[in-house]
Formats: sequence, structure tokens, C-alpha cells
Amino acid sequence: MLSIILDFLSSPLYLASSAAVCFLSYYWIVTPDLFENFTLPTKTITIEIPKECKADWTEDSFIDTPSIIDKTDPSVIICYDPATARILGKKRSASKEQVNQAIIAAKKAQEQWSKTTFAQRRQVLRTICEFVLKNQQDICKVSCRDSGKTMVDAALGEILTTVAKLRWTIENGERVLKPSRRSSGLLMMYKLAMVLYQPRGVVGAIVSWNYPFHNTIGPVISAIFAGNGIVVKTSEMVAFTSDYFLQIVRSALEAHGHSADLVQYVTGFADVGKALVESPLVSHITFIGSAPVGKKIMQAASTNLTPVTLELGGKDAAIVLDDADMSQCYPVIMRGVFQNAGQNCIGIERVLVHTNIYDAFVKEMATRISKLRLGSSLEQGENVDMGAMAMGHNFGYLQSLIQDAVSKGARLIAGGKPYLHPLYPKAQYFMPTLLVDVTPDMDIVHNEVFGPIMTVMKFNSHVDAIRVANASPFALGSSVFTSNVKAGRKIAMALKCGMVNNNDFGVNYLCQSLPFGGVGISGFGRFAGEEGLRAMCNEKSYTEDMFSAVKTKIPPVVDYPIKNASIAFDFASSINIFAFGTNLIDRFKAVTTLAKNAQ
Ligand SMILES: *[C@@H]1O[C@H](CO)[C@@H](O)[C@H](O)[C@H]1NC(C)=O
Repeated sequence: MLSIILDFLSSPLYLASSAAVCFLSYYWIVTPDLFENFTLPTKTITIEIPKECKADWTEDSFIDTPSIIDKTDPSVIICYDPATARILGKKRSASKEQVNQAIIAAKKAQEQWSKTTFAQRRQVLRTICEFVLKNQQDICKVSCRDSGKTMVDAALGEILTTVAKLRWTIENGERVLKPSRRSSGLLMMYKLAMVLYQPRGVVGAIVSWNYPFHNTIGPVISAIFAGNGIVVKTSEMVAFTSDYFLQIVRSALEAHGHSADLVQYVTGFADVGKALVESPLVSHITFIGSAPVGKKIMQAASTNLTPVTLELGGKDAAIVLDDADMSQCYPVIMRGVFQNAGQNCIGIERVLVHTNIYDAFVKEMATRISKLRLGSSLEQGENVDMGAMAMGHNFGYLQSLIQDAVSKGARLIAGGKPYLHPLYPKAQYFMPTLLVDVTPDMDIVHNEVFGPIMTVMKFNSHVDAIRVANASPFALGSSVFTSNVKAGRKIAMALKCGMVNNNDFGVNYLCQSLPFGGVGISGFGRFAGEEGLRAMCNEKSYTEDMFSAVKTKIPPVVDYPIKNASIAFDFASSINIFAFGTNLIDRFKAVTTLAKNAQ
């Protein structure tokens, strides 16, 4: 026995595995920024959450007809909790003047901020990260109150995503934004060529309401790490809580001696977004929202040719092959459809299931969906699986899509209509819905639902599945479920989309090194990943001489005034062949012409 152990301890396998353990623990646990905990320690910040966002706040002032619009004053936003219909208060939509002031204040602070080191920026991000993790519950409560989601949906969709982005940026940001050395080629071999990633100045982000915390903070993390100031236009649907969320970043900046003005927010209706996009002082716009609004943003951005990143809607397909591990697949698809009551740009909106397992799939989903419980997880605590919907006025639209499908032969197995909550009759709930036998001629296949509706379609062959999946104008994310990784990857390669996960849903976003974005009417440009961080920069090309003794010298034959144009042309055309030719003999001949003419 002992000799076996001794043998193992001296075996290459043992040495290799212990080396691997050391490497991994250095890479993931003892990260370089860990040492900055001593040299550049984080600060503890405290921010009081609004009293309305506490679970024990149950003031009985319910909104009668839920709407954010105040008929007596178009600049007022009425804030209410979609899960209970309790009125939270009123906010005022920002004026054009306020938008401009915010941009100017951010610009002024950015001039100082752009001079900070990456270590100083990491310090601010680490303070934010620490605050977010210590105050997860508070942040989730605030998000729940304003958006009607559940605490678990908030913990996954708001906190997990945000700390993943913070950690990735802390660990990788500097490497990604360091000047990047590029090859200079044969002709320019004496040059050092590189890309400098410099701040753009003040950037803008116009973000959607489905994840009020993450959508607001996400763009701020990349923007400030790259040295920018930022003005975030938060959604009027969740106007009540933007202040608290942005206060986290502003307090962290201040705690480390930087100006809080760097990060600004404005909230309000469409004209607020327009003022931000049309400002000549804003050098980039990130927009997260719907395709129709995306078009307006792009139009407005053309005023000053401001570059835009558009993250628009999706109609993500999940293709379930008949060899999929169903015990793993069912729960993933349930979360893919019903997470956040289906209000996800990368939610699963079409489930394509192989004929062989179709009936079993429908039966199992019917059982699982019938067990979902709706309510305000903030007030009811336990026994709530799914929250409310932010857009109550959209229910008629959802029902019309379902009716159209049923009239064309789809079967409605569960839900299909709003849900009247016994405790909160004015609240905005839509029943978890199962719609099966859906075919490509139905409207629900081509229109984003953004709600808790599982639409199931049947397919016979891989070719079929790919054709149906690709028939949507949206092309954001997608999933393939199969036990055959190679087959899954082959289908993934054939799917028209910006992101695809084998045997999973949306996890590409938890691998924060990956870019996030779509093609088609799902938008363009990428946030997250190296691509997203670099998008916050002016990617400046730069060259210098590698050795000071070797500089570009204009050969006399082409120096102005040109003595003999035909000789000069021979010389220039020989350079082209010598440096870039595809035929070795021609290139050799070109050298001799060069030698002859270079006088
Ligand atoms: C230019 O050089 C060519 C070749 O050496 C010669 O034939 C021609 O006469 C020259 N032209 C002039 C204007 O000097």
C-alpha cells in the first residue's frame, strides 16, 4: 500500500496535477488584484434604501388603473409596484436642460478621471463589488419593488450578472486595454505598430427596465474602467429606483477621492433619450431595448454621427434533439422561458422539439408549468415562483398572439390570460402559458413576446430545425440540447444568431469574457467581453520607429520634383511586387529592378 502511495507521489501524474492545482488557485483565487486589497484597500459605503422598498412597507395606496402616465402633467412619471399595485411615488421626467447639465458635469469630471491608473479604477470596482455582495438582499428588494420580479430572479439576473462582470473587468480589464502590439508587415518591418485604447470621453447608455439594477450598472462598469464619464438614461418604467442604484457607483467614486459627477443618470420619456443621443458631447451610445426604438436611436445618432451599440429584442430558439438528457434539459428550459416572467432579451421564446420526444416533452412541461405560483415575493416571502409583468398594458397584445395561434391550430394547454391575484387584484400578472403545436405561419413565431409563454414547435430532422430556427428576423441567442456535443456544435454553427449555448441557456453571459449581442433586427455591436470593453474606447492606431537610426527615407527617385516619371513608376510598381507579390520569381525580379532604379 505504502509503495503505491510513494509511487503515486513521485509519478508524473501527481506532479502534473499538483502543478495544475497551484496554477488554478493562482488563476482564480489568488488573482493579482488580491494583493491590491492590501495596497489599495476597498472602502465600506452605506446607502439607505428607500423605505418603500422594504418588505415591511405596506402602505395601502393602490393604483386604480396601473399606468405610469399622469394625465394632468405629461412630465410626471407615476411609480408603482407591478406585483402589488402599491403606489410608490412620483418622479419628474428630465428636461433637455437637465440632460445637458448632466453631460457637462460628467465631461468635467472625466478630464481628471482619464488620468487615473487601472489600479485606481479597479479599487473603485472592488468597492462596488464588495457593496453589492454585502447588500444583495437590499438591492434585490429595491429591484423587486420597482419591477415586480421575485427575489430569486433578482439574485440571478441582477446580482450574479453584475458581480460576474465586475470580477471579469477587475481581472482582465487592464490586459484588454493595454496597448496592443500588431504586426507591421515586410515593407514596414522597421516600425512598431500598435493600437492604443483611449477613453472616448462621455458616453451614454439608454437602458431597459427588465433588470433595473444590472442594466443600469453594467454599462457604467465598462465605461468608467475604460476612463470615460457616463450618463445613463434609465427607463421610465423603473424610475423610482435609478437613484439608489447609481448612488452605489457615485458613493464608491467619492469614497476613493474621485468626483461622483463622473457617473450621471437621467430618467424620463423618449425626449430625454433623444436629447442624450443628439448631444455633440456624447461620443458613444449603448442602447438596450426594442427594435423599433433602436431605429429611432440610430436616426437621432446620425445628427452627430455618434457611434451606437444596439442590443435589441430576441426570439431565441431552443432546439431539443431526441438524444438530449431530459432531466437536465427540462429545468433549464423552464428557467429559460419563465425567469423574470419571460421578460428577458435572451429568454427562450421558441422551443423546437424532435418528434420522437415531443409528446413526452409537452406532458412534462404541462405538469411543471401547472405548479408555478405567482405573487409578490417581496411581501409574501415563500411560495412564489414567478413575479409580475412590468407592462400591464401589453396583455391584450399577448392574448391576441395566442388567439391567432389557436385559430391556426395550436393547442393552448395552460394559461393564456392575465391572472387575478387574490391579494393584489390590481397587480399585473400573466399566467404561465403553454402553447404547443405551433407552426411557422402563426404570428407568435415572428413577434417577440417578452412574457411567460412557452411556445413549442415540432421538427423531424436537424435540417428542419435549423430552417425553422433561422426563419426569424430576430437573431440574438439560442440553445441546442443533445448528448452529442459534436452534433450540437454543428447545429450551433448553422444557426443565425449572435450567441448559442450547447445544453444550456444564456450562460454565455456568465462567461463575461464573451461578447454579447445579436445580428439581424436583434441589433449590432457588442457589449461585454473584450469587444464590449474596447467599444468604450477610441481604438487609436499608432506607429513609431523601432530603432531611431532606421527611419522612413523617401528614395531620390520618387522625391519631389520627380526627375523621370517612368523610372519612378517602375520603382514604385516593383516595390508593390516585391513586398506583396504571390510569385517568388516575380518578387526576386522586382528586387533587381529596385536595385537598378533606386538612385
Ligand atoms: C526617362 O527614363 C527612360 C528610361 O531610362 C528614358 O527612356 C526616358 O527618355 C527618360 N525620360 C526623360 C524625360 O528623361
